[in-house]
Formats: sequence, structure tokens, C-alpha cells
Amino acid sequence: MAQNALRLGVNIDHVATVRNARGGAYPDPVRAAVLAQEAGADGITAHLREDRRHIVDADIEGLMNALTVPLNFEMAATEEMQKIALRHKPHAVCIVPEKREERTTEGGLEVAREENKLAHYIAPLRDAGCRVSIFIAADQRQIEAANRIGAEVIELHTGAYCDFHAEGRFEERDREFEALREMATFAHSLGLEVHAGHGLTFDCVQPIAGLPEVKELNIGHFLIGEAIFSGLTPAIQEMRRLMDAARP
Ligand code: PXP
Repeated sequence: MAQNALRLGVNIDHVATVRNARGGAYPDPVRAAVLAQEAGADGITAHLREDRRHIVDADIEGLMNALTVPLNFEMAATEEMQKIALRHKPHAVCIVPEKREERTTEGGLEVAREENKLAHYIAPLRDAGCRVSIFIAADQRQIEAANRIGAEVIELHTGAYCDFHAEGRFEERDREFEALREMATFAHSLGLEVHAGHGLTFDCVQPIAGLPEVKELNIGHFLIGEAIFSGLTPAIQEMRRLMDAARP
């Protein structure tokens, strides 16, 4: 892959959502992950939530055994998740805020207020060889704090930008995009690797994919939904095509 190519991480959580709706064994998120890998995903992302509403512990084990591309393990900063991550040692861990009552990850992590705690929390993960990423809003204070605690990567939360786009609120979307653009440049200037994700679709991915500092997009819900109509492989290939076409 070219040096400046944009990586696509496919999040397979919502294959597990469909499986868990019936409590059985299918559709299997590990099978979806292997298919995504064959379709051109550069990595697989999975979020083991505290309530196990989609991905469960056995899925993480299965992904670690089945994948040849890197696993990006999304987790809340809890003791339980740290133990699980240290047991599996995935390529990357992405620390996300988590509230039981939310439908999806609503905002970015509050790093600035929890700086000391988070610095201690991520140190053993880094020592174990995991790349530590912090999921944050496009907010300079949070990015500076993520840098100070020793994170190597930040993932910018694109959820608000995507929602404004979908709702036709284009002025707000453009303001949010400007903030993402500026903060991608700022984070890159500190030496952080910049990723982005949440809510991205065929319709709104290209401006984000065109930001030269962004090295990876993590996309899940839309791709799994689109797979109902076109199949997972064509959905991933179309996303890949749009991302590559947007690259400067
Ligand atoms: N990145 C992070 C940190 C996330 O928490 C999620 C959702 O689990 C995603 C990316 C993918 O978001 P979506 O499923 O909306 O594409």
C-alpha cells in the first residue's frame, strides 16, 4: 500500500447486534470480519461494551485467532477491559467513553479532566505493545491532553458532522467539518497519528477521507446496513473506492 494511503477499519459490532437479537450463533461477526479482510479492509474494529450488547468475549478471542489484519479493540477505560486487552494484546486499543443508557458512543472521551488517571491506565497497554488511540471530539484541549498522557493515536469523532449532513443542516455540518480539519492538522503537528470515525456513509465520507493528516477511518454501522442490500464485499469495495478517490 502507498505510504499516504488511507486505511479502512471495518467495525463488525452490528453483525453481533443482529446475532444477539435472537441469541443464537449467526450471523457470526468473526466470519464477517474475515470476509471484510478479504474485501480489502486494512483492519477490523470491535467494541466490547461493558453490557456485552453486541460483541462478546468469545468474539474477541475468535477475531484474535482468525484475523491476519490488525484488530483495533475499542473499550472503556475500566479495569475489566484493561485485563482483557492485556490478555489478548491486540494491535491497537481505542479508549472510548461509554454510558450504559446510550444507543451508541455519543461523545468523545473527556481526557483533560482525567489526565493522571488515564496516563496510568494506558501505560501498561503501551508497555504490552498495543497502540493506544483515544476517541475524542475536535477539541484542542482534549487533543493536547491526549498527547500529554502518551497516546500515539487520536480518533476524531465524526458523529456530529455526519448527523448534520444527514439532517440537511449544512451550515452546522460545515462548521463541524472545519473544526475536524483544523484539529486533524493540529494533532498531526504534535506528532499524533490521526484517525476518524463514527456515522460515516457513502454520502459524507469523502470530505473526511480527503483530509491529508487522517490515516485511518473506522466505519461500521452503515457498511453492515448496506450489506443487506448489496452484500458486505461490494459495500466495502465501494467505500474503499470513495475513500481513494477523495485522497489528495
Ligand atoms: N470509531 C469509534 C471509536 C466508535 O466507537 C465507532 C462506533 O462503535 C466507530 C468508529 C464506528 O462508527 P459507525 O458504526 O457509526 O460507523
